[in-house]
Amino acid sequence: MKAVNVGLLGLGTVGSGTLDVLRRNACEIRRRAGREIRVAAAAVRDPSRKRGCDTGGIALGDSPLDIANDPNIDIVVELIGGDEIAREAVLRAVDNGKHVVTANKALIALHGNAIFENAQRRGVMVAFEAAVAGGIPVIKSVREGLAGNRIEWLAGIINGTCNYILSAMDESGMDFDAALRDAQQLGYAEAQPEFDIDGIDAAHKLTILASIAFGIPLQFARVHVEGIRGIAAEDIAYARELGHRIKHLALARRAPDGIELRAHPALVAERQLLSGVGGVMNAILVHADAVGPTLYYGAGAGGEPTASAVVADLVDVVRAITTDPQNRVPHLAFQPGSLAALPILPIGEIETAYYLRMRAANRPGVLAEIARIFGDSGISIDTLLQKGRGRADESVTIIMLTQRTRERSMDAALAKLAALDSVAGEIVRIRMEKLA
Ligand code: HSE
Repeated sequence: MKAVNVGLLGLGTVGSGTLDVLRRNACEIRRRAGREIRVAAAAVRDPSRKRGCDTGGIALGDSPLDIANDPNIDIVVELIGGDEIAREAVLRAVDNGKHVVTANKALIALHGNAIFENAQRRGVMVAFEAAVAGGIPVIKSVREGLAGNRIEWLAGIINGTCNYILSAMDESGMDFDAALRDAQQLGYAEAQPEFDIDGIDAAHKLTILASIAFGIPLQFARVHVEGIRGIAAEDIAYARELGHRIKHLALARRAPDGIELRAHPALVAERQLLSGVGGVMNAILVHADAVGPTLYYGAGAGGEPTASAVVADLVDVVRAITTDPQNRVPHLAFQPGSLAALPILPIGEIETAYYLRMRAANRPGVLAEIARIFGDSGISIDTLLQKGRGRADESVTIIMLTQRTRERSMDAALAKLAALDSVAGEIVRIRMEKLA
């Protein structure tokens, strides 16, 4: 059978990794796909620049749109990133009846609904395994492997930069700034790391996971997002003393009144497998009604790990090219006409447990005052730790773990605590996830 012609947009780390994997494993890949997958053209910013990968036989140009318009190209692989040029090129490729493979989570999270609608109309596939958790085949697992289940919730460590920084802080006691510098020096964090450390990257990936888990449209704007800049070394140490690790978690959960969608730092008990996911690794725990919990672990970034997902998508697309478009696996797991309009809960309506740290005066009745506020708010205290035994006029640090409560009840209780004369300064609050 005739070779399938691929046009690559971008030849950076993932693009070169994809070329390398396609070349190295060409024989295996052909046996799986049933046809040769041939990279015929690539668009790069500077075609004259010397590259680390073998570009022999590939027509190099600088225009993604030329590739999207090229009648000889069957599949466009978009590895440029960002959501402007990439969006234009992907939409053009789809309009021209080409299938697309992309690793671009921002593109899918922000514009996926429109892209999939167009793709559906044109009868083409847009595959995006590499957009979530790099080389871990979690999209395929959730979309296809768990298709018999009602998925209840999922929780993931899906940003390697955050995980590296929090793991380094935990292991060495260093503060956030030092751990970020360390991550940048090692090439794990970008020179401009905001998307990662402010939680946006994880929120993009969560948007996609939640959509295929629950059959809801992609709704990035409804995700509650917090990053890790505010995590202090002392909170990591106290959490550890209390048998927990602090992780940046992305969570999607069915609650009685809607869906929780949130990406933020959280305490995870040491006995949970997720707490042992260190360094730049990713993992996603999915809880579904029939199978129970399943855990997906692996490299969430890097040239060849991400290329592994890109090439798997290419093989899938090649196998499905000749099938009836109506009978392919739907982009978002559920048939396009069957997506549900479930409400996404505002953050005040979510339920979780909490870690709290505050400075309080060291005099009789202070703990009783604090405990009364929680009691009156219907919040149950699980653990209480006092650090420091200063003189009567000195303050002490109080650390508390609470049971699950609605976030708005916690907001109200913390406002009352902050108004007490006996409590001074900021009250640190980090959510704590039981993952049960
Ligand atoms: N920047 C991402 C991370 C990898 O740190 O996990 C690509 O999604």
